Amino acid sequence: MSNKYLWWQRGIIYQVYPRSFMDGYGDGIGDLRGVAARLDYLQWLGVDAIWISPFYQSPMADFGYDVSDYKGIHPMFGTDEDFDDLISKAHEREIRVILDFVPNHTSEEHPWFVESRSSRGNPKRDWYLWADPAPDGGPPNNWLSVFGGGAWEWDEATEQYYYHAYLKEQPDLNWRKPEVQKEMLDTMRFWLDRGVDGLRVDVIWHMIKDDQLRDNPPNPDHEPSMSPFESLLPVYTTDRPEVHDVVAMMRGVLDEYDERMMIGEMYLPTERLVTYYGKNGEGVHMPHNLQLIVMPWDARRIAATIDTYEGALPPGAWPNWVLGNHDKPRLATRVGPGQARVAAVLLLTLRGTPTLYYGDEIGMHAVDIPPDKVQDPWEKNVPGLGLGRDPSRTPMQWDGTPNAGFCPADVEPWLPVADDYEENNVQAESEDPESMLSLYRRLISLRRDEPALAVGSYAPVVTPGDLLAYVRENDGRKFLIVLNLGHEAQTFDPDERVFRGRVILGTHLDRDGEALAGALSVRGDEGLVVELTS
Ligand code: GLC
Repeated sequence: MSNKYLWWQRGIIYQVYPRSFMDGYGDGIGDLRGVAARLDYLQWLGVDAIWISPFYQSPMADFGYDVSDYKGIHPMFGTDEDFDDLISKAHEREIRVILDFVPNHTSEEHPWFVESRSSRGNPKRDWYLWADPAPDGGPPNNWLSVFGGGAWEWDEATEQYYYHAYLKEQPDLNWRKPEVQKEMLDTMRFWLDRGVDGLRVDVIWHMIKDDQLRDNPPNPDHEPSMSPFESLLPVYTTDRPEVHDVVAMMRGVLDEYDERMMIGEMYLPTERLVTYYGKNGEGVHMPHNLQLIVMPWDARRIAATIDTYEGALPPGAWPNWVLGNHDKPRLATRVGPGQARVAAVLLLTLRGTPTLYYGDEIGMHAVDIPPDKVQDPWEKNVPGLGLGRDPSRTPMQWDGTPNAGFCPADVEPWLPVADDYEENNVQAESEDPESMLSLYRRLISLRRDEPALAVGSYAPVVTPGDLLAYVRENDGRKFLIVLNLGHEAQTFDPDERVFRGRVILGTHLDRDGEALAGALSVRGDEGLVVELTS
């Protein structure tokens, strides 16, 4: 494929949630040795890079997103040798490794915070966001924590509040402080020097807060079923203009190296999202485009989102798409098993780097977690609204043996294994040409073979109802993608032009090779890739 494109532009990224991917130590919790043991699978699947959620030292209040040592590996996940071994084995297989970097907040047990809270006069006091009480003695303003409750925690000993966007065990760093910037940028270099190919930056849009601590306004669209955090619009706590200076500093570090990249996590509408590409190459390489995860599964809305995004990308910006992650409901449960196959075709034929979430390629669904097995602090803080993330973090299903081959049969995995693991697992699906896994493999292989799909242009085709259609093209090779996002059959018959070609891939195997001249009938829950001759 053309060398004009970098690995993260041509490639496919696969997110590994290390607690749940593969247990290499036999304690019921996944780890780095487990990831290394499954690299052959990832190579067989055909992905180009893995993004691994945090495995650093942490008290695990938020399962590793509360870091107490940015340069140390939690013994539960392995040793420095395990890490080096994983990097070298991944690179031998031409799989790049992207780490999760969590710069917005530390753990309350990080030595910096321990010092910071020790006294008002401590030199690290303003490495975090401390503020005096409001005149009534309450919190300095109305800011809320994403995970429920207020965002300010009172510190009895020093009689001030500190700000935490997430748990109170996750105090936010003060990124306006040059010493904080220096330490954190050096941490990036530490991992890049160890051979890491990229960083996924956690909650990058949160990194700077309003320095006047202004109240967030009420959200007029808030409904009781929504998270309490969403009762306010976080306009003074997220997406502040100065965050772009921080992003530029981080980008500067990546640019000290060859072909390293940075993904930024952000839940923002298109017009805000694209600002993170930055001016003059100073931004995030890929501001994660999480829109398909949070929007209704509706053909017209998705078409509008794709076209708006395509139209809003600044010159030189590389698009990307994500359909699932460790924070949101499982794709197969959200859209249903039939549509999950259509979604796979969408993700792997859109223009822009796809990120797959582990297990989606075998159609893993949300697993009901009994109350006594709940792990996620969000569910514990705000129960009953379906915000808990455990159902999307259950052990990967490798085979039909007890515990699905994730951990030894006589060990209890940290979260329950889905009860359909005997049929729904990598081994069984790899032997079934009609399985979800076989569909993903065919799609990935086609995308890797066809520059038109990996890096080609995108053009929408106007279609009504539940159909979504577009053409990808590169160097004279053209593919028409027609997806039925509904359950009823539809006819694809655009007025504006006549397409001719042959189906080369579909959600259902029986369409392969079918000739297309003009109209095309598309069954419910069906997606087709047509190689065009005109
Ligand atoms: C990000 C992570 C999420 C974590 C939160 C706080 O949104 O993806 O898992 O809980 O940041 O670090």
